[in-house]
Amino acid sequence: MRTWSVGGMAIPERVLSNDDLSGFVDTSDEWIRTRTGIRERRMAGERESTATLGLRAAQMALDVANVSPQDVGLIIVATSTADYVFPSTASLIQGWLGATHAGAFDLSAACTGFVYAMEMASQSVRAGGVDVALVIGAETMTRVLDWGDRNTCVLFGDGAGAVVLRASDVPGGVLSCVLGSDGSGADLLAIPNGYKPHAHPSVNGAHKLSMDGRGVYRFASRIIGDSVAETLAKAGLRIDDVSLIVPHQANQRIIDAAARQLKVPVDRFFSNLDRYGNTSAASIPIALCEAVDQGRIRPSDYVVLVGFGGGLTWGAMALQWPEELPPEMGEWSLRRRRVFYTLMRWRERLLRLWWRIQVIVLGTAAPGTELEPGDAARPRRLPRLRMPRFLQRPREPAALPPGPEPGEGRED
Ligand code: UT7
Repeated sequence: MRTWSVGGMAIPERVLSNDDLSGFVDTSDEWIRTRTGIRERRMAGERESTATLGLRAAQMALDVANVSPQDVGLIIVATSTADYVFPSTASLIQGWLGATHAGAFDLSAACTGFVYAMEMASQSVRAGGVDVALVIGAETMTRVLDWGDRNTCVLFGDGAGAVVLRASDVPGGVLSCVLGSDGSGADLLAIPNGYKPHAHPSVNGAHKLSMDGRGVYRFASRIIGDSVAETLAKAGLRIDDVSLIVPHQANQRIIDAAARQLKVPVDRFFSNLDRYGNTSAASIPIALCEAVDQGRIRPSDYVVLVGFGGGLTWGAMALQWPEELPPEMGEWSLRRRRVFYTLMRWRERLLRLWWRIQVIVLGTAAPGTELEPGDAARPRRLPRLRMPRFLQRPREPAALPPGPEPGEGRED
């Protein structure tokens, strides 16, 4: 079983240049450009979030792939800046897309998240569990930055990218993947949760990103080359077979070091970090999308995606871009799709209202209304109205099994 993949992207309109930053933090355009290669980054507007950016990227990816949201069986969102701990960003996007047959979850592997998510999705497709998977990397990093910390606030930006993976008999798709993690480097790059009792006291306020830049730099400069070489060996490819390497976009100097280690010209690596900065899990799918748009990836090309980041985590994936891409959607199909999305947004709003009405009118499920044989075959029917509580016969509470005595089972 093979897979094919095509993608979409979304970036906020608001641009934050290096000069804008030097207006409120002690830095300069010259320092940021020479040390990182970044010139500007995008910043989500008030009405934008990780989920809305992810939604736009997902819609574009589905349009490019000419796939209906209702054919999607799995949605994975790689993110470190989810709108909520739960519901997952993936579930929000699933509802807005009207992807009514999809399972959905978020995946946390920091900047490597997109490679991890691609591997999980491609394995699901290969195993036959789903036909179509939607993989999204989406971030609003500017919401977790300490804007007084020049070591970090100049590096990151917001955006989203998405890829559709589909089972196919046409040559192409995911060829190999290596994933790795080293928890001993956990302190090098972190966004603590506000409610964690053991959050590091040096973190100024909850949820803000902290980073040991030099530590991450040393790790990143080595791990890109190592993991690309490993995944190529697994796929039976040589570095010269590869048309383009799409790395996580963190620092141009890291990309240059990786090119030196792999002994390839640096233009074999795609780079757009000068315009977007580091968009964490979104950086690889955004770069992939732009690379395709710019004609840097052609049918049948071998491409390597490589990511690294918090955890520490890393991952590299070898792909063969499909020989044949799906036919483009016509003007009318695209319009119909837009109408469908509008209807789905309204459907979703009405369903949210319906949840509330159900609770007000029907209350919670009463004892004695357990599923009866055959109910599972009618999962979509509305819950039955039941007798008012004061008319119901009170039930004896079920006896609990005896629990352990205090201290029992502990090994001091
Ligand atoms: O997704 C993965 C996320 N993270 C990364 O990939 C980050 C990897 N690390 C890096 O990219 C680099 O380490 C940085 C760009 C973060 C820093 O570059 P560096 O060449 O390692 O600089 P440094 O940390 O060694 O700092 C050099 C100097 C320091 O001043 P002193 O101590 O030498 O007086 C810093 O205080 O530069 C200073 N500095 C700045 N100066 C102006 C640090 N940040 C800034 C700044 N503007 N924004």
